Amino acid sequence: MAEPSHAAVIETRGLSKRYRGGQLAVDGLDLAVPRGSVFGFLGPNGSGKTTTIRMLLGLIDATEGEARLLGEPMPSAARRVLPRVGALIEGPALYGFLSGRANLHRFDAADPTADPRTRRTRVEDALERVGLSAAAGKKAKAYSLGMKQRLGIAAALLKPRELLVLDEPTNGLDPQGMREIRSLVRALAQEGTTVFLSSHLLDEIEQVCTHTAVMNRGRLVTQGTVAEMSAGVRGRLTVTTPDGAEAARVLKEHGVGDLTVTGDEVTGELPPPEAARGPESPDAAGEPDLAGLNAALVRSGVRVRGFGVTRASLEDVFVTLTGEGFDVAG
Ligand SMILES: Nc1ncnc2c1ncn2[C@@H]1O[C@H](COP(=O)(O)OP(=O)(O)O)[C@@H](O)[C@H]1O
Ligand SMILES: [Mg+2]
Repeated sequence: MAEPSHAAVIETRGLSKRYRGGQLAVDGLDLAVPRGSVFGFLGPNGSGKTTTIRMLLGLIDATEGEARLLGEPMPSAARRVLPRVGALIEGPALYGFLSGRANLHRFDAADPTADPRTRRTRVEDALERVGLSAAAGKKAKAYSLGMKQRLGIAAALLKPRELLVLDEPTNGLDPQGMREIRSLVRALAQEGTTVFLSSHLLDEIEQVCTHTAVMNRGRLVTQGTVAEMSAGVRGRLTVTTPDGAEAARVLKEHGVGDLTVTGDEVTGELPPPEAARGPESPDAAGEPDLAGLNAALVRSGVRVRGFGVTRASLEDVFVTLTGEGFDVAG
């Protein structure tokens, strides 16, 4: 059996950070980021994401606990490990008076492990990867925020990386800028780079990530695949029918709860996925038997004109698990 830790590119155990002044910003974090995943580190502002990333990269010391990066202990293995990890934390440090291309040259020249003979090619390749070739000669101060972020990612891509760590890469971007970063992340993942990105935006994580860990007030709320997570929260079923009362009776019989009949619409909460996950059930894990429900309605003479399920969102997951709203305004 495969040892799970070998597949993890980031692994923490009991990782905690108490800042001077006594505040516990990260509290006993156990994180496992599988190789090859696009891992969304999700949480409201102030939930400890940046603090965790800073500890992972050895930029600040943990108060307690352990962190391993690419299987090696941090921060002691930093010199060995960090060259294989690209990172963009809270916006890139750019020289506004230099062009995007010149910024990358300068950044690469500051890296003692980078080969100056291949610099020109690597810079052009990185610009191409992030879609900045055409704008490479412009001064960085003339770049949009999205272009600046992409230049920061280009800087992280000047060398081949096994892992890319991006702290809120779409923060402050307009929808177009966000789309650009998302498609870049997808492309990098397809090339085999594991991407660990933090965000306070639920739909962003749902759109781009395979896995997620959810933070709240310094603590891990849950982690797993995005699909598992939304399957872990019940979706709502909506049946459109002129036979509302009869439909509600049949659905109740089949474990659908919280039923309401409004006009020709019957809505209810699907049965908990555990019910469908039992050993005697051949259904896919976590999937309620929708075909069976539909068939039962029809068998009872209910005229089904519409039958649909609203999938649970990560927001539903967060609210269900924390009992709090995911309020990220401001
Ligand atoms: N350098 C610091 N000194 C003291 N407290 C800090 C420092 N940096 C962050 N914090 C606090 O730690 C908590 C977590 O912050 P942070 O890791 O930045 O969260 P996030 O990145 O999820 O928004 C917040 O309450 C924040 O105010
Ligand atoms: Mg942050």
